[in-house]
Amino acid sequence: MDVVLSLPIKMSKFAALLAAVTLAVTVRGQSTVPAWGQCGGSDWTGATTCESGSVCTALNSAYSQCIPGAATTTAVPTSTSAAPAPTSSCQVPAPSAGKLRFAGVNIAGFDFGCSSDGTCSASGAWPPLTQYYGADGAGQMKHFVDDDGYNVFRLPVGWQFITNGVAGGDIDEDNWTEYDALVQACLDSGASCIVDVHNYARFNGEIIGQGGPTNEDFAALWSSIAAKYADNDKIIFGVMNEPHDVPDINMWADSVQAAVTAIRQAGATSQIILLPGNNWTSAETFVSNGSADALKKVTNPDGSVTNLVFDVHKYLDSDNSGTHEDCVTNNIDNAWAPLAEWLRCNGRQAFNTETGGGNVASCETFMCEQVAYQSANSDVFLGYVGWAAGNFYQGYVLGEVPTDNGNGVWTDTALVSACLAPNAQK
Ligand SMILES: *[C@@H]1O[C@H](CO)[C@@H](O)[C@H](O)[C@H]1NC(C)=O
Ligand SMILES: *[C@@H]1O[C@H](CO)[C@@H](O)[C@H](O)[C@H]1NC(C)=O
Ligand SMILES: *[C@@H]1O[C@H](CO)[C@@H](O)[C@H](O)[C@H]1NC(C)=O
Repeated sequence: MDVVLSLPIKMSKFAALLAAVTLAVTVRGQSTVPAWGQCGGSDWTGATTCESGSVCTALNSAYSQCIPGAATTTAVPTSTSAAPAPTSSCQVPAPSAGKLRFAGVNIAGFDFGCSSDGTCSASGAWPPLTQYYGADGAGQMKHFVDDDGYNVFRLPVGWQFITNGVAGGDIDEDNWTEYDALVQACLDSGASCIVDVHNYARFNGEIIGQGGPTNEDFAALWSSIAAKYADNDKIIFGVMNEPHDVPDINMWADSVQAAVTAIRQAGATSQIILLPGNNWTSAETFVSNGSADALKKVTNPDGSVTNLVFDVHKYLDSDNSGTHEDCVTNNIDNAWAPLAEWLRCNGRQAFNTETGGGNVASCETFMCEQVAYQSANSDVFLGYVGWAAGNFYQGYVLGEVPTDNGNGVWTDTALVSACLAPNAQK
């Protein structure tokens, strides 16, 4: 997850609400549209009358929604009362958009003890599996699939754990047996599984390809991992968690290219590979900080970019750190809308593999808006993965660990129940 960042709040809560494209409730066939529902747009065939207290407001030519509080709406300067009409076709979702391909949660534990300088303490890794005295990650995943409709889990692990401390590609088979048990539990649930090397572009404080392990070392790691799962199309390769303060973004793109080439040459020719940018893979600065331009040049060995998907993270708290209980933004104006436009213009897609907030009302509001926006733009966004379940303790501020009541009955945390579980969005 993000560690410490200083991010000024760029958008007032009120402006964020106005910009929101929200609840993906089905309103067709109803005579009035509930607050935040769609009420118009070029392809819209459903109801156009908002329920009492809301006003149908055009956000762009393709999308209008019911915004509560006509009085407050008119109090806002006209320049912010509705998003400007699209100035390029890249701002308009494809007609096919509307439903995300993936929704899921991180199952944390093997990454415990890893710091943002790429050190991972040998005693820190804690498998989220009961046979290794951890939480019941296997049961959690089965519950999330069966009861909530989830279909992806991200399984963070430190490079050091995989190779037992060596900055290379020789897998320690004893340690791998433990991690693979989590991957197999994920596969058994029927979901797709993201193998996430959780090292912040580093190994023991040094940056890959820029003073630390060479690109060949990094490629060797990914070659070994990919060989294990070459024939499994449910595996997604998460090349690296949250690079940050990487001095040369083009050299980092070379490191990512080395990993992609190694994965493909190991026989994993078609699975999704996630390409991470600088600045903690911030969705907000993916384009502005130069990650987009550098990483769009990464290709498969045949020169295509098929299933090379950008990895982006975003939290909803005041400094994008994912450490505060309260949420202050749905990230639409500052991050998701500009990113969607860039992706469409460049024919690419992104996957939001970390997001989250506290189990409080502000997060339920903003997260539901973020998820609805991502869904409305599912031509360029593959989905989201919440942070986090697995081995976190009950009461962790961003906890999404469900409670096991026995007899196969689980209770979700409030944010999962309200917004993140796909079944909750119907
Ligand atoms: C990193 O991202 C944060 C917002 O997520 C932003 O405030 C900061 O300026 C970014 N840094 C760079 C170098 O882009
Ligand atoms: C490899 O796994 C063993 C057994 O769980 C553990 O003791 C050791 O610390 C692990 N190595 C690293 C570097 O985490
Ligand atoms: C991205 O941010 C880094 C600081 O982290 C800065 O040195 C670099 O110039 C930025 N690159 C671009 C293209 O903005």
